[in-house]
Amino acid sequence: MPKRRLIPHRRWDSCLPLQPKNWVKIMKIAMIGTGYVGLVTGACLAKIGHEIICVDHDDTKVVALRGGTIPIYEPGLDNVVAEAIGKGQLSFTADLAQAVESVDVVFIAVGTPQASDGRSDLSQIETAAKQIAKSANGDKLVVVKSTVPVGTCRRVGRILGKHGGSHSFRVASNPEFLREGNAVSDFMQPDRIVYGSNTAEAEAVMDEIYAQFEADNVPMVKTTLETSELIKYSANAFLAAKVAFINEMANLCDATGANVEDLSLGIGLDERIGKAFLKPGPGYGGSCFPKDTLALTILAQEADSPSRIIESVVDSNSNHIRRLGRKIADFCADSWGEERANPLIDKRIAVLGLAFKANTDDIRSAASTVIAPLLIKQGASVIGFDPEATQAAEAVIDHIETTTDIDTALTGADAVVVLTEWDVIKAIEWAEKRPLLNAPVVIDLRNLYAPERMAELEYHYLSLGRPNPA
Ligand code: UDX
Repeated sequence: MPKRRLIPHRRWDSCLPLQPKNWVKIMKIAMIGTGYVGLVTGACLAKIGHEIICVDHDDTKVVALRGGTIPIYEPGLDNVVAEAIGKGQLSFTADLAQAVESVDVVFIAVGTPQASDGRSDLSQIETAAKQIAKSANGDKLVVVKSTVPVGTCRRVGRILGKHGGSHSFRVASNPEFLREGNAVSDFMQPDRIVYGSNTAEAEAVMDEIYAQFEADNVPMVKTTLETSELIKYSANAFLAAKVAFINEMANLCDATGANVEDLSLGIGLDERIGKAFLKPGPGYGGSCFPKDTLALTILAQEADSPSRIIESVVDSNSNHIRRLGRKIADFCADSWGEERANPLIDKRIAVLGLAFKANTDDIRSAASTVIAPLLIKQGASVIGFDPEATQAAEAVIDHIETTTDIDTALTGADAVVVLTEWDVIKAIEWAEKRPLLNAPVVIDLRNLYAPERMAELEYHYLSLGRPNPA
């Protein structure tokens, strides 16, 4: 077990309220996987004083990371990584065996993508567990950080036992709740920290890793492996349900003349409901909600305890985006006074925002990946603007043209569809942009602009659940 030693009082970023401690028990930790979760967690654990060695099988990525080049867009992460490398608390390697040998604790933060049957593909977890077992030179605690179905940590324990020779392994589950785009501050200012374990010893090591947060009164939920695994799925499913719910309410507002913004406020001020996650949009996307909600429905069915609520959330979200696709085409045709059977043919449509939400370059399950192909299929030419996600979008959306310049996207556009709430998109002054456009048609699926202002500027403006002024 690691020795306790004193490290000097360190200076903390003023925005991070975690109080500095002049003590920490420095843990040596290997982090397998340097994706969004592994890299943020590794870098932030290094920031709070631990010694982290991040492992990735991609040599080129390792070399880039050693030089401080971050392969993803995550605000603030570059500074955290550079600082930790500079202090010698963060290093990168492609040599998993060497990393495992040099630590007592190994985190697994590899991908658990959706398999073709909707389940989580656990092959990367299993491979990592086998490699850890085969490389172990002593007893280790293996912490599963990746989002996994209930039972996976026990399975990891069995794999470790089978391939790990005479060494003994403890297992812990430690789900992350990091939002992309806010991941560093979410790590440093968590609402809670959750871990599950199969032994008191494993829990004691987890206590040491997160000691500073506990000392700072961050609520700690220490539980069983199964509960910890299910907490992660439940949290994402509950949040996804809030988003699907408010999107349905926005549609109902459209149908009845009510206003969804007032509705969100009117229900969100009830503390039992809460104001967060009540913004209508083009449906939830990203790497977590779509995958985790689906995996939870399958898990529940297999446990003979089906979750009709989450099944409906999944259906509601996919119906929502399809319905919006039809709505965009109908609204464009009405605004243009087009009576052709295929009104989008030869029209140019600017899509503003390709990432699944602001402040990320991630386009996994982004609205753009559904809406742009639908428009293109109906004969429109689509130009997509995004500050960070153009390359990723080009790789998956056939025939899309992209730009990182808003004016280029708007020039000659017959309609504009707003999909992501980037600040730079929020800040568009539509009076100035009018001369660039071929037709003043704006479909705003994030409710970023005031309907009164858009009416004043004589735009044909469609938003979600907000009546246009008469
Ligand atoms: C989510 C969870 O929030 C995080 O705790 C977990 O660890 C990983 O999954 P993330 O996928 O980064 O994080 O995105 P989040 O900010 O939660 O948004 C998810 C989706 O819901 C996005 O598509 C977002 O645009 C949408 N959303 C969110 C809304 O449409 N309306 C809202 O009010 C909130």
